[in-house]
Amino acid sequence: MRAAYVTEPSPADPVAAIRVGDLDTPAVPDGWVRVDVRAGALNMHDLWTLRGATRHPGTGPHVLGSDAAGVAGGQDVVVYPVLPAPGGNGGRAVAHATLLPDAGHGVLAEHIAVPAAHVLPRPAHLDWAEAASLPTAWLTAYRMLFTKAALAPGQVVLMQGAGGGVATAAVSLAVAAGATVVVTSRSERKRERALELGAAAAFDTGARIPEPADVVVETVGAATFEHSTRSTRVGGTIVVCGGTSGFTASLDLTRLFAREITVHGSTTGSLAEFRALLDFVAEHRLRPVVDSTVDLADISTQATRMLSGAAFGKLCVRVA
Ligand SMILES: NC(=O)c1ccc[n+]([C@@H]2O[C@H](COP(=O)([O-])OP(=O)(O)OC[C@H]3O[C@@H](n4cnc5c(N)ncnc54)[C@H](OP(=O)(O)O)[C@@H]3O)[C@@H](O)[C@H]2O)c1
Repeated sequence: MRAAYVTEPSPADPVAAIRVGDLDTPAVPDGWVRVDVRAGALNMHDLWTLRGATRHPGTGPHVLGSDAAGVAGGQDVVVYPVLPAPGGNGGRAVAHATLLPDAGHGVLAEHIAVPAAHVLPRPAHLDWAEAASLPTAWLTAYRMLFTKAALAPGQVVLMQGAGGGVATAAVSLAVAAGATVVVTSRSERKRERALELGAAAAFDTGARIPEPADVVVETVGAATFEHSTRSTRVGGTIVVCGGTSGFTASLDLTRLFAREITVHGSTTGSLAEFRALLDFVAEHRLRPVVDSTVDLADISTQATRMLSGAAFGKLCVRVA
């Protein structure tokens, strides 16, 4: 079967480490099912894998990817991308759980095997690439907004870095939940696209936000975190899931305590949150923003685009 994988990571040139070729079809253990993958999506995590910065078992070809949609047992499905932590965590925290590729079960392949509980019906209004966009970025945005920040209708939400997969998901989810969404981006084109998605206002990165936010969705990290603390209202919440521009940020502690700001870390989401996300997407007929889709053989194009920061929405691949 065809798969996108890495054998020799390259910290300096992750795109050069991508291989696409034939690998053995994985065995399907008891309690697992085979999924014939139709589409997948890339995440920053795949670039970290290509750089050799993630851990995974075994040696030899390591299949990339945590986002897939396909067919299992004759049903159209999307794949929940997180394996629970050993010993379980009651769904409260997923920080010690493992993404499928880090457990040796990457999904950017024609055929994959996953636990039976990990396949859920594809929302019927979505095409394959849209459905494949949901598992990581959309699940992460869902948990950040609704579990961590307990977003309520009418609240103001600030998304830093409007073009990212998590940020575009968060804009759609927050608008559907009745929030007032403002975004920042360095790119005028991305600011315009965010307004088309339903954002009420869009500002240049670092610009003063006229009304402080109840909730800030922070995915950019070092370049925006200080601005996030400046843009949060008294008693507001910042939720952090990553740091594309760097992981070491400066923080004026005065702001934190004087404004009684709460900062949450957040990582992907539980299976219950994934089910709730799929219901929410179906109920509001939300469609993930897909920047572009290419054949699996051309996955390097998508990785290059992700590295460039030019994408608006998810970078997808057609697998079959
Ligand atoms: N913890 C989790 O479970 C989880 C899940 C998914 C993603 N993540 C993390 O979340 C982060 C976002 O991932 P993503 O795939 O949504 O998006 P992404 O492609 O990593 O980009 C997010 C945004 O960062 C902004 N950006 C990048 N460099 C910048 C800089 N120097 N200054 C200002 N802005 C900059 C860009 O915004 P503009 O071009 O619009 O300015 C870009 O759209 C990544 O770090 C990823 O690893 C974590």
